[in-house]
Amino acid sequence: MSTLTDKHIVLGVTGSIAAYKSAELVRRLREAGATVRVIMTAAATAFITPLTLQALSGHPVRQKLMDPEAEAAMSHIELARWADAILVAPASADFLARLAHGLADDLLATVCLASQAPILVAPAMNRVMWESAATVENCATLRRRGAVILGPGEGEQACGELGFGRMLDADVLAAQVATYFGDAELGGVRVLITAGPTREALDPVRYLSNRSSGKMGYALAAAAAAAGASVTLVSGPVNLPAPRAVDRIEVQSAEQMFNAVMALAPECDIFVGVAAVADYRPVHPAANKLKKKNEEMHIVLEPTADILAAVAALSQAPFTVGFAAETDHVSAYARSKLRDKRLRMIVANRVGEGLGFDADDNALEVIWDGGEQQLARAPKSRLAEDLISIIAERYHAESSTEDSGSAHRA
Ligand code: CTP
Repeated sequence: MSTLTDKHIVLGVTGSIAAYKSAELVRRLREAGATVRVIMTAAATAFITPLTLQALSGHPVRQKLMDPEAEAAMSHIELARWADAILVAPASADFLARLAHGLADDLLATVCLASQAPILVAPAMNRVMWESAATVENCATLRRRGAVILGPGEGEQACGELGFGRMLDADVLAAQVATYFGDAELGGVRVLITAGPTREALDPVRYLSNRSSGKMGYALAAAAAAAGASVTLVSGPVNLPAPRAVDRIEVQSAEQMFNAVMALAPECDIFVGVAAVADYRPVHPAANKLKKKNEEMHIVLEPTADILAAVAALSQAPFTVGFAAETDHVSAYARSKLRDKRLRMIVANRVGEGLGFDADDNALEVIWDGGEQQLARAPKSRLAEDLISIIAERYHAESSTEDSGSAHRA
């Protein structure tokens, strides 16, 4: 059975010369077993006719939001719910911008906003437009929210330039959509991630906390979901929306985070502790607001439970990955945490100089027993994708060794 059998795909076609490849794409998706319904933007119809895509998909092509006849047959909300995935190919620079900003100014953008299905986009545009700061930021925003960006490819462009910006070919795109549903890197794997800071109450209005923004943990959750995992994110207080298709549990204190994680950990395959959990909390938080006095104040702190170590110590421990934010001796401290907390992998990052806490960029050193890999400075959303690939590879490698080990023992 093909991986796209019985899958419902909304194919969005936007205004780009690459729209001619969408005709071939409809055929490839249907050959793989999918049912395809096409939405075209007004600009797309300048490049390819709706009749072509109607004939190839076997369904009327939707174009307008305010179309009483089409809405009576299947409203845009029904279409949004019907989709197992929304594939926008080609995705123009203009469409990526509208999607990143959550606009609902035409049918395709509205369906994307109204759907909980994964969104995959295949950009197609001139090389300079692809490299522009605005497009780079829009793509980073989309990745952070869990959208999957397919391509673009490199080569000669319709405008005569050479470089990145070509839409991937139809057969490659159809294969990548099938991979997404079928053997995605983390298809069927349950991933639990902690992110953000914790707040430890001093009194009803004050707390001890740290500078963690949650960006790295959220980027990792989005990348894991995009790699096909079912993701639960236990998050401390941050100013970030939950990534698409990620189940978020919000907590405040280290103790609440500990309880949420320990309830879920036995049911997960991979645990990644990205949260900057407070190591200490006030022993006696005041029931009422503390009043100012003209004298020294002493707060007695007690250690919090180490969530990461507790998960790694479970009898059926998931593949447990820790983070180590360090200002100095980065590699050495990280290696000792790997050993002491009995982790399968540790991700070390240097904090400061625009990296790490509350920054958009990071640089990582990934260490496991018998190997290591450096990930050079890059935006957190890009690093998260690379890190998820490394985690998936090690997780699968160790699971297959365990399987063959238990078969051997049996
Ligand atoms: N961690 C945790 N629970 C805690 C403290 C930390 O799960 N109570 C996790 C973090 O999510 C991260 C890793 O442990 O994955 C960080 O290790 P840790 O030894 O706590 O680092 P630091 O607190 O930075 O330790 P130190 O201050 O000694 O460097």
